[in-house]
Amino acid sequence: MAGNRISLCFLILIFCSLIVSNVSAVPPSRIKSLSIITEVNFEGPYIGLVTVYPPEENAFFETRAFKPHRKHPFVDLSGRRFRIGTVQSKKVIYVRCGVGMVNAAAATQQMLDLFDITGVVHFGISGNANNSMSIGDVTIPKQLAHTGIWDWLNPNGSLPDNDVAHLDIGSYNLPRGNGMNLLGHIGYSYEQFFSESGKPDTAAPIFWAQTSQKWLKLAAGLEGMELKSCVNSSLCLPQKPKLVVGLTGSTANIFVDNAAYRDFLYQTFEVSSVDMESFAVVMVSLSNNYPVIVIRGLSDLAGSQMGQNAIQIFGPLAASNAAKAVVRFISKLP
Ligand SMILES: *[C@@H]1O[C@H](CO)[C@@H](O)[C@H](O)[C@H]1NC(C)=O
Ligand SMILES: *[C@@H]1O[C@H](CO)[C@@H](O)[C@H](O)[C@H]1NC(C)=O
Ligand SMILES: *[C@@H]1O[C@H](CO)[C@@H](O)[C@H](O)[C@H]1NC(C)=O
Repeated sequence: MAGNRISLCFLILIFCSLIVSNVSAVPPSRIKSLSIITEVNFEGPYIGLVTVYPPEENAFFETRAFKPHRKHPFVDLSGRRFRIGTVQSKKVIYVRCGVGMVNAAAATQQMLDLFDITGVVHFGISGNANNSMSIGDVTIPKQLAHTGIWDWLNPNGSLPDNDVAHLDIGSYNLPRGNGMNLLGHIGYSYEQFFSESGKPDTAAPIFWAQTSQKWLKLAAGLEGMELKSCVNSSLCLPQKPKLVVGLTGSTANIFVDNAAYRDFLYQTFEVSSVDMESFAVVMVSLSNNYPVIVIRGLSDLAGSQMGQNAIQIFGPLAASNAAKAVVRFISKLP
C-alpha cells in the first residue's frame, strides 16, 4: 500500500511539472511543497498524527518526544503545517487540523494522499458524557458515531424509517409534557461511507465507525499507565485519572455544553465522550483503508457541571494526558 502511495505522489509530481511548463494553475509554493514531500517520502513510511487546536498541540510538544527532521522539519499545504520528525525513534508526520469535521476530514485525506503513511493516530481532548468517567481520564474508544447528521422535522412530521434515533424537543419542556414545542423533533441519520474496497460512487450507510482492532489491542497495554493529576501546585483532580480502552464516542459540529443533551447522547447511544473531529478522522482513514486510533483526554463535563464549563481550567491537563498516552502508544507500535 505504501509503495502505491509513493508512485502516486510521483505521478502527481510529474503531472504538476507538466502543467508548470505550460501555464500552470498550481501555485509555486505548492509545487515546492510537493517536491519536499517526494523527498520526505523516500525516508518513509510515517505514522500520521492529527490533533485539533493549539492547547493539544502545545501539550504534545511539551512531552518533548517530537524530534523534528533536520533538513525538512515541516511542509506547508492548504494553510496547514505538516511537521516531519520522529517520536520514540519512529517516523511521524504531525498536523493540527483545526476545529470541526470539515477540517478534520480535509487534513486527514490530504495526509493520506500525499505522504507515505502507515496509519493515523488522532488525539486531543473531549467532553465527558459518562458519569463513571472523570475529567482528566483518557478514552481510547472502540467506535465513534457522527451524531450531527439530522433530519429536523416538524412537530407532527414523521421520522424516516432508517433513522437511528430520535430527539423530541417537546419532551424537554418544563413543566414536563406541557404543550407543544414548535422546534419539533430530530432524527439521527447515517453518514455515507465511501471506501477504496467498495464499488466506486457507491455509498454504504455507516453510523459507528470502528477504530482499528489491532491498534486497540496494543492500546490495551496502556491501561493503568500513570497520568497527570494536577494542573498546578494548588489545583489537583479529586481522584487519580485513568485510561480506558474500548468505550464509544460521538462527534458532531456542536460544542456540547448542555446537561440534558449530554444525557440524551449517553442514554441513546451509550457514548462516553463528545468531540468535534474524531469520527471524521476515523471515517476518512477507513475509506482509504488505513488503521486508525483515537486518544482523547476528558476536559469537561459537556454541560452537566455547576457553573462554568471546565475546559479552560482542565483542557491543558486533559491534553497533556492524551499526549502522554500517544507517546506511550507510539513506543508500542512495531
Ligand atoms: C400537529 O397536530 C396537532 C394535533 O393533531 C395539531 O393541533 C397541530 O396543528 C399540528 N401541528 C402542525 C404544525 O401541523
Ligand atoms: C462508562 O464508563 C465506565 C468506566 O469506564 C464503563 O465501565 C462503562 O461501560 C461506560 N458506559 C458505557 C455505556 O459505555
Ligand atoms: C492553578 O490554576 C488555577 C486554574 O487555572 C488558578 O486559578 C490558580 O491560581 C493556579 N494556582 C497557582 C498556584 O498557580
